[in-house]
Amino acid sequence: MRAIKLAKPGGLHNLQLVEVAATAPQHDQIQVRNHASSLNFHDYVVASGLLPVDDGRIPMSDGAGIVEAIGPAVTEFSPGDRVMSCFFPHWASGRADTLAKISGIPGDNVDGFAAETVTMPAAAFTSMPDDYSFEQAATLPCAAATAWRALFVEAQVQPGDTVLVQGSGGVSVFALQFAKAAGCNVVATSSSEEKLATLQELGADQLINYREHENWGDKTLAITDNRGVDVIIEVGGSGTLAQSVRAIAMGGHISMIGVLTGIQGEVPTAELFQKNAVISGITVGSRASQQDMVKAINATGLEPVIDRSFDLAELADAFRLQESQQHLGKICLSF
Ligand SMILES: NC(=O)c1ccc[n+]([C@@H]2O[C@H](COP(=O)([O-])OP(=O)(O)OC[C@H]3O[C@@H](n4cnc5c(N)ncnc54)[C@H](OP(=O)(O)O)[C@@H]3O)[C@@H](O)[C@H]2O)c1
Repeated sequence: MRAIKLAKPGGLHNLQLVEVAATAPQHDQIQVRNHASSLNFHDYVVASGLLPVDDGRIPMSDGAGIVEAIGPAVTEFSPGDRVMSCFFPHWASGRADTLAKISGIPGDNVDGFAAETVTMPAAAFTSMPDDYSFEQAATLPCAAATAWRALFVEAQVQPGDTVLVQGSGGVSVFALQFAKAAGCNVVATSSSEEKLATLQELGADQLINYREHENWGDKTLAITDNRGVDVIIEVGGSGTLAQSVRAIAMGGHISMIGVLTGIQGEVPTAELFQKNAVISGITVGSRASQQDMVKAINATGLEPVIDRSFDLAELADAFRLQESQQHLGKICLSF
């Protein structure tokens, strides 16, 4: 079968298409004919060599395909089932209260889904949404599961709440879609007028160009009658947090998810406590949370926004598109 391996020290030029043998499933494992994957910022950090991994690691955290064979201890899945990966194979449910729960990330700590066949424990998968293609399902395990947890597990949004999403990447577009499906108002920000128009078509109620409005926190207050927003999907990190603290409403919730602008910066502490706001750190979500998300997708018919798909052999080109930040929503691999 075909797979992509990343040679040390990483870098997109070190992604190599290779032939490797599939392994038969043992004990609690299933063998999955993998048909799709999708790109996340985490995968980019691995592929570009910024996050060192073992020599020859097969990258990509997300995958979706058909169960081909099962080990003798597997009861949950049968050959023919359509499954998708979990970002954290060891986090079944509850809080992320041990490091062990958030270890074993496919494509980082263990081989991932840039491969036509994978063999992993059954607990590393859930069922896919009923009517999804493999490509659609492969957009969910990292980006959508993160948006889901931020909104419904941590912030516990209610219909009528106002949610601000930063930019038009994978996590933010899913957060916009989930928030609208839950009856929330959405303020969307982007660096591009064209992308803002698309975000409006996807349901965003108010739009802010964060390039034009560097102090978009003040702009948010201005368009919300000085109240601010109840929930913020914070993917910018150090460069955007101060604006988020300005934009958040009294008692609001900032879901700290991303580091697109870097990992260190100033925190306006007094403004934060004066607002009685909560910041919660988020690492994707548990398997149980993913199963809840799948139920909601089956009920709402929500469809992921896929910008473009590439063949497995074109993984480096797919990362170059991601690097350019020209995409909106998800970039996929289909094979
Ligand atoms: N903690 C977790 O569990 C978790 C899970 C998933 C992702 N993440 C993190 O979340 C971040 C986003 O991930 P992703 O997969 O959605 O990335 P992505 O698809 O690559 O998102 C890129 C988009 O982010 C927007 N952006 C960049 N700089 C921005 C800024 N200063 N302010 C607002 N928006 C900005 C841009 O949107 P426009 O072009 O519209 O401006 C850009 O196109 C990454 O840092 C990733 O590591 C964390």
